[in-house]
Amino acid sequence: MRVVQYDRFGPPEVLRVNEVPAPRPGPGEVLVEVHAASVDAGEIAFRSGRMRRISRAPFPRGTGGDFAGRVSATGPGVHAWQAGDAVWGLMPHFAFGSLADYVSVPQERLARAPKNLSLVEAAALPVSGTTALTALTALTDKAHLAPGERLLIRGATGGVGSVAVQLGKALGARVTALASARNLGWVTALGADEALDYRTARPADLGRFDVVVDVVGTDLGSYRARLSRRGRMVALAFDTDRMLTSILGSGLRAAVSPRRFKLFSNNPSADRIGELTRLTEAGSIRPVIDSIFPMSGIAEAHGRLEAGGVRGKYVIDMEREHA
Ligand SMILES: NC(=O)c1ccc[n+]([C@@H]2O[C@H](COP(=O)([O-])OP(=O)(O)OC[C@H]3O[C@@H](n4cnc5c(N)ncnc54)[C@H](OP(=O)(O)O)[C@@H]3O)[C@@H](O)[C@H]2O)c1
Repeated sequence: MRVVQYDRFGPPEVLRVNEVPAPRPGPGEVLVEVHAASVDAGEIAFRSGRMRRISRAPFPRGTGGDFAGRVSATGPGVHAWQAGDAVWGLMPHFAFGSLADYVSVPQERLARAPKNLSLVEAAALPVSGTTALTALTALTDKAHLAPGERLLIRGATGGVGSVAVQLGKALGARVTALASARNLGWVTALGADEALDYRTARPADLGRFDVVVDVVGTDLGSYRARLSRRGRMVALAFDTDRMLTSILGSGLRAAVSPRRFKLFSNNPSADRIGELTRLTEAGSIRPVIDSIFPMSGIAEAHGRLEAGGVRGKYVIDMEREHA
């Protein structure tokens, strides 16, 4: 089967499409024929080597944390899934490798793909799912966002932010989006009440917020200072130029002020993945897909994501026959 891999740290061009044997599902695992997977912003730091002191996985390394496709085979002890089922899901936490023709994953990393979409859409939608689940968990379980509250989303046009804007509105908040100048109109159309250019807006001029969701990771203190008295900040990213300091600093902050500063790494349960299927079928969340690339376009997709300006997610289509 084809798989996207890299065997050294470096620019997007280190990503290659290699041929390897397809995996076999072990006990409790499901082999999925992947139809689409997304380009994960978090993986750029792994590929470039900025995470080398934190992750010591051996080369060659795979990429891709989520997928949509069809069950191809099941391992011993799997009764909930059958060959042909349309599914979407996630790789095990901190494991990558869904940019491949097949993945074998524990059965609890899967949910049924939404029924209200064609298979092409179903394949494209769930790859936004991980980020959608991150946004959902951030706004509900972590921030307990309430109707009428003021919500600031820093990084509002990317994979997580574009869903957080929609969910923030659906939950009744007044949403301020920080985005790049060319995307201000776009993020307003997505639902933001107010959109500001992050290159010119000074944190000190922004007013007060009940909830701040940050997917940027730099300068967190300036944005934390914008919280109202009972405000909560959810930090989803680290400063990749000073990774260790950033992880330690945020971890300490979350330990000292757990109500006001929250940090988490999205690792949804099977029920949570199923909840995304239900929210999608109810029309509460729609995927925001910037562009679709073939597997051979993976380096270009990484390069575009690094260059900035994304609107939602970049999706890799495995170009299967979509019956
Ligand atoms: N903790 C978790 O569980 C979790 C889950 C998912 C993702 N993440 C992390 O969250 C981060 C973002 O993920 P993503 O998928 O949303 O990435 P993405 O699609 O690349 O989006 C990042 C967004 O941030 C914007 N941005 C960049 N610099 C900014 C600044 N200084 N101020 C305001 N906005 C800025 C970008 O806008 P322009 O491109 O227009 O500059 C872009 O819209 C990654 O680091 C990822 O690892 C964490």
